[in-house]
Amino acid sequence: MLSVKKVAQPPFTKSVLILVTALYATATLADISDALQVAQLSDGFNPEQKYMASCFACHSTGAAGAPKVGDGMAVEWEPRLEKGLDAVVANTVNGLNTMPAKGLCFDCTDDDLRAIVQYMIETSQ
Ligand code: HEC
Repeated sequence: MLSVKKVAQPPFTKSVLILVTALYATATLADISDALQVAQLSDGFNPEQKYMASCFACHSTGAAGAPKVGDGMAVEWEPRLEKGLDAVVANTVNGLNTMPAKGLCFDCTDDDLRAIVQYMIETSQ
């Protein structure tokens, strides 16, 4: 993630920053809040990669009754989301029945897990 705190930046970084700023300026409000959220995640964190590494094994197949992730799987998530995203994220952090705590991603922060859950929900529309 680019840090705006750096003062002396080489020209390349500067032009990347200008590009990023221009992209943000054209983004919708929802995109901006996504971008702000990404800023609180672990360095180099990529929700899709972490999902593939930690969660895919159960959530792609629905093993042990895991809600499935993928095209057209919104129906698996709607009843779970009725309790609110915060509760769903809390269940991810703490575990739920056969769902292991942190989904076995022990280097994930709570914010990282929230980002993965959002990724799972978004890719299940
Ligand atoms: C060993 C298999 C397994 C792995 C690995 C796993 N899950 Fe799950 N997950 C489950 C099962 C089973 C459930 C359903 C639990 C229930 O409702 O009883 C579940 C449920 C969930 C839910 C819904 C919680 C709710 O409140 O209804 C979320 C969100 C979730 N998992 C996220 C993740 C994330 C993120 C990862 C990876 C970091 C992950 N899971 C890894 C098996 C797994």
